[in-house]
Amino acid sequence: MIQKLLSRTCNTHGQDSSYFLGWQEYEKNPYDPIANPTGIIQMGLAENQLCFDLIESWLEKNPGPAGFKEDGALIFRELALFQDYHGLPAFKNALVKYMGEVRGNRVRFDPNNLVLTAGSTCANEILMFCLADPGEAFLLPTPYYPGFDRDLKWRTGAEIVPVHCSSSNGFRITAAALEEAYHRAHKRGLAVKGVLVTNPSNPLGTAMTRRELDELVDFVVAKDIHLVSDEIYAGTNFAEPGFVSVAEVVADGRAEACRGRIHIVCSLSKDLGLPGFRVGGIYSDNEAVVSAATKMSSFGLVSSQTQYLLAALLSDEAFTAEYVAENRRRLRERHDALVRGLRGIGIECLESGAGLFCWVDMRHLLSAVTFEGEMELWKKIVYKVGLNISPGSSCHCDEPGWFRLCFANMSEDTLSLALSRLQTFVGSCRNRPHCSGGDGRTRRQFLARWVLRSSPASDRKSER
Ligand SMILES: Cc1ncc(COP(=O)(O)O)c(C=O)c1O
Repeated sequence: MIQKLLSRTCNTHGQDSSYFLGWQEYEKNPYDPIANPTGIIQMGLAENQLCFDLIESWLEKNPGPAGFKEDGALIFRELALFQDYHGLPAFKNALVKYMGEVRGNRVRFDPNNLVLTAGSTCANEILMFCLADPGEAFLLPTPYYPGFDRDLKWRTGAEIVPVHCSSSNGFRITAAALEEAYHRAHKRGLAVKGVLVTNPSNPLGTAMTRRELDELVDFVVAKDIHLVSDEIYAGTNFAEPGFVSVAEVVADGRAEACRGRIHIVCSLSKDLGLPGFRVGGIYSDNEAVVSAATKMSSFGLVSSQTQYLLAALLSDEAFTAEYVAENRRRLRERHDALVRGLRGIGIECLESGAGLFCWVDMRHLLSAVTFEGEMELWKKIVYKVGLNISPGSSCHCDEPGWFRLCFANMSEDTLSLALSRLQTFVGSCRNRPHCSGGDGRTRRQFLARWVLRSSPASDRKSER
């Protein structure tokens, strides 16, 4: 077999999950209001398409940067030749200013501590290369972004140890859960090098409170390990109390204890809705990390014309101020429409105030409160209802029956259609005994059964 001639890395890919499978199914039969009205609606993609009009209108008013022009003169040759992995100073200055702005200007970022990368996918992997040797572990609170299994582990050989979070406290990260994961890793013979959190969370859409962040920082300081805070969703926060960056915690009198161990990941893929531009970064006060990461960024640089264009866009203070406020307003409106629509058909969401998705409780629709039951429901929703949503198991959720539904990558009409398809499905479940929502059981009976089934001996035995 030709496969034998390939490397172990080449023969694996870290993408075996229903998260990616759902995307493939969508690609085979994508919904289009005119060309394919019965196709699958993509609700499994955390893309933000709500504010393209604002960027397009800026581009119309400012044709220079996209046309490689500066003060009317063509600078094509300069940009074509630029290849410094430190990045264009004008872009780095504009990006750190924007990072401060989406964090309410409560904290300032120094461009010398920023390494530019081709998106946060690249940033997270580089950080793993810098902070962990093969076989060493990072603790990740569950549920987490399914791409991390690929981004953090695949090429680096690092391990992920889940920090089990549960619906009983809204999937909040607790000191006890962190300790438990740390000791579990040690029992498995794994050296723990750090904790990686996504704040605000994908898939939960919740932001960590100041108290939770303080506890997390205390934990990494006490254990003498690193903290990676993936803040890719920082600019999508639309609720009060707002998002708090770990940078604020460090700035508030903890700089000494935290020196060299806190690393922030940023990206323009979510708030600005530019995943195709591939722009992200690592922000760290650890000189060795910044130096190594800068060299590693050679494998995934941000192109010079992208940097040039975005330097102009992000330096326009009037534009960024309007964009940040309007994006928040539109995200909130869309989030509320999804939550209201789901509630109308008897489906509740975890309360959230950020992100491009809701974390949706469909436990009452399971035929069995198991991960098999979850997959059965997921397949029905993809193939029969025609919605690609992400099952909680693909995010390593410990409890079957939770799903992530994205709301910002489609029009309002498409969202209404998705809700009406779901309503028809839930209605049909009520008339069929194998859908647990309709067979007469009360919510209390359902929960009792769930508590029994979710004892550590049954569902937690495998580290999915
Ligand atoms: C938590 C998290 N980190 C990283 C990424 C990757 O984003 P990027 O497009 O910046 O590589 C995503 C994308 O969904 C994400 O949700």
